[in-house]
Amino acid sequence: VGHIGVENVLVDLIIAPEGSRTAAVYRALRAAIVDGRLPAGSRLPPTRTLAADLGLARGSVAGAYERLAAEGYLSAKVGAGTFVAFERINRTSRRAGGSLKPRPGWVFEALPTSGGAAAPTYDFRVGIPDAGLFPYDAWRRLLTAETRLKANSLGTYAEPSGHPALRAAIARYLGVSRGVSASAEEVVVTNGTQHALDLIGRVLITPGDVVAVEEPGYPPARRLFASLGAEVVGVPVDADGLVVAGLPDTCTIVYTTPSHQFPLGRAMSPARRRELLDWAGRRPVAIVEDDYDSEFRYSSRPLEPLYSLDAAGRVLYAGTFSKSLLPSLRTGFLLTPPGLRDALVAARQMGDGYGQPAVQAALARFIDDGLLARHVRRASKVYADRHRQIVGALIGMPGAGLILSAAGLHVAALTDADSTAVVREAARAGVGVDDLRAYSTGQTGFVFGFGAADPSLIAEGMALFAGVLARHI
Ligand SMILES: Cc1ncc(COP(=O)(O)O)c(C=O)c1O
Repeated sequence: VGHIGVENVLVDLIIAPEGSRTAAVYRALRAAIVDGRLPAGSRLPPTRTLAADLGLARGSVAGAYERLAAEGYLSAKVGAGTFVAFERINRTSRRAGGSLKPRPGWVFEALPTSGGAAAPTYDFRVGIPDAGLFPYDAWRRLLTAETRLKANSLGTYAEPSGHPALRAAIARYLGVSRGVSASAEEVVVTNGTQHALDLIGRVLITPGDVVAVEEPGYPPARRLFASLGAEVVGVPVDADGLVVAGLPDTCTIVYTTPSHQFPLGRAMSPARRRELLDWAGRRPVAIVEDDYDSEFRYSSRPLEPLYSLDAAGRVLYAGTFSKSLLPSLRTGFLLTPPGLRDALVAARQMGDGYGQPAVQAALARFIDDGLLARHVRRASKVYADRHRQIVGALIGMPGAGLILSAAGLHVAALTDADSTAVVREAARAGVGVDDLRAYSTGQTGFVFGFGAADPSLIAEGMALFAGVLARHI
């Protein structure tokens, strides 16, 4: 068989476990065909010869040939033998990108917390809840129940606004937990906040429109609006929240995080809330209120959301279960004023249809059975301890100016030191913390997430961090 080197492509057979010879021959030959080591037209040795050379039963080789032929990789010509029939795809020219180019602005940036990113020992990365607190057994039971034929009509298309029972459950839950009086009609279920922002952007943004975002702020929101053609303008935040006097007169959308400013962590003051709504009431602008993690509260009562205070129908409220449950549920919701509802539902229908009805139905039961409220109560206690530990370490830490905050899963501190250098050096010591510069064009500081932090390592991690920071001040 030397003339085509088949034995070279079959070296992995040596380590193939007993009983899977056919599959191993198949895989080795297919890999060689696909990557071009066995080019189209190559003649394979007869099964009997190859089997003898490899010390295999003839059936093992014949089985592999048959499968490759059935899948179009090989063709057999009577009397002439078996040939490679597959033209290798020219990967290099495909990888080079060819002539297709996306519109400007479509650049993939991996999130530091996504995918297989390894967790640091002292994990203060922002935006990750503690997955270990999630009640998996209860969730599995509900999901299983909703995946039965009689549970719902999985064979038909579902409502783009979301499962009716979930919309009703969300409306009821918000009434109790946030004092928002909303009807199920106002709720549109989404695949999380990012999806909600996409729906809003597609419905409201004409390329060239000005969209105001907080500075410092949440980069995925900024990038999304820019991808839709908006001119995104950063507006400063002060101790009361978004500086209304800094808003561009011409903007179409204002995106804000009043319950727990991302990333600085303060709540927008009642006076600033009123000022923002007064400002919005005088012009055709939509206020997008992103309330992503304020279920977790450590002292004061929550302030009334803009959505509840709004008399002019200008506010859209985006909520998510990414922090209160798990980011991987990819489930959130929008509360919308009546004038936008149909358009938002149409955008959802055109984009992805309607999400996953079984997950939505299970979540409705989860909320209605009181499991969400119970989980939030329990998790709040756990997070309160981590919050206390981190705040305790930051109070009085030389070089770090803690910004007090009483909700959510992260706290921020400002610094005069080179925060980027500190964060890099801390990472080498096993301490993962966010650089405020990642969220800001001007400010230097640190953002400490505590959702994922091991409570028994917080003090040690913060002491290590303080040591690193001390070398930079
Ligand atoms: C400001 C802000 N909004 C929303 C989210 C949640 O987004 P999603 O619901 O798309 O997971 C996060 C998560 O980190 C956030 O920081």
